[in-house]
Amino acid sequence: MIEKTGGKNSPQEYGIDWDKQDDLDLENRLTDTEYISEDREVENPLRPRTFSEYIGQEKAKENLKVFIEAAKSRRETLDHVLLYGPPGLGKTTLAGIVANELGVNLRITSGPAIEKPGDLAALLTNLSPGDVLFIDEVHRLPRTVEEILYPAMEDFALDIITGKGQMAASYHLPLPHFTLVGATTRAGQLSAPLRDRFGVVLRLELYSPQELGKIVSRSAGILQAEIEADAALEIASRSRGTPRIANRLLKRVRDFAEIMSGGVITLNTAKIALDRMEVDELGLDQSDRNMLSAIIKNYGGGPVGLETLAAAIGEEAVTIEDVNEPYLMQIGFLARTPRGRVATPAAYLHLGLPLPKSQGEQTGQMKFGE
Ligand code: ADE
Repeated sequence: MIEKTGGKNSPQEYGIDWDKQDDLDLENRLTDTEYISEDREVENPLRPRTFSEYIGQEKAKENLKVFIEAAKSRRETLDHVLLYGPPGLGKTTLAGIVANELGVNLRITSGPAIEKPGDLAALLTNLSPGDVLFIDEVHRLPRTVEEILYPAMEDFALDIITGKGQMAASYHLPLPHFTLVGATTRAGQLSAPLRDRFGVVLRLELYSPQELGKIVSRSAGILQAEIEADAALEIASRSRGTPRIANRLLKRVRDFAEIMSGGVITLNTAKIALDRMEVDELGLDQSDRNMLSAIIKNYGGGPVGLETLAAAIGEEAVTIEDVNEPYLMQIGFLARTPRGRVATPAAYLHLGLPLPKSQGEQTGQMKFGE
């Protein structure tokens, strides 16, 4: 086998034809709809661009600020960062802020968009020194891609073998130093070797209604929509701890306000609009209510297995786990036990369903005893 190492840093400079290696077409890859749509999201005017504009996630923010300052003062790249937590909490936004605070470019892609090692090689060899590469849904990287990512993260080099038998050649391509920011809703699904290569691991939490209220007021300002403070808090408290939902509801409430109250978002308009959209006072939507009422009505309050529940309500199990459950558990409506999901007495109360006599005890036992 021929071994090649040296100062060159792009496979093209070595005459490697990635198209032939594994059908890579760099231009097509970079214009993937996924790539572009996510790239556009970054240009969303509601996204904060600096730490000072970013509301909430105090722990993650304060720690990141320290790591960024320290890396800058040592003139090194920031260590690789893993952000995990439920969807819509601002993982992409934080990656953008990290790049902005470091004064480097942000390149955005996602685990499923990187299908082959060549796709990743093309991305990495096109980075400028210090750039931030953001990989969303990093737990969905194919295994073959993950394997070439390890030396890239650790040694800033690509180790690639091309050809077979007599024609086999191994290449060691130095890469520009970069920071990988990986994001996932499911840290548990990351392989141990990948997880271990992130020097900074930060868990994002659901936001409090007060924090979301500030986000709604800030967003309304950017959208040039007049909003009363209690209306902002009303939208916030129905947004399931999630800025993405808060901003979406704000835009729809603004539509109602334009038609109903001359454009001013009052508490009354907000309440009417949110009721019309079937978002209840706690932020539960039809899918949350369906799920809780299936547990209660079909399975006597639980425990019921995730897959069974998913089939019963016609939802994907991963959607239930990532989207419905974090908030329902946070507000104490749902307990996860080794035997399955259980609706708590608070869920019965909220849905206006009678608690069966034995249910209170049983639910209490499941919740606190397991
Ligand atoms: N918009 C979305 N998320 C935000 C956040 N955390 N702070 C301020 N504005 C936001």
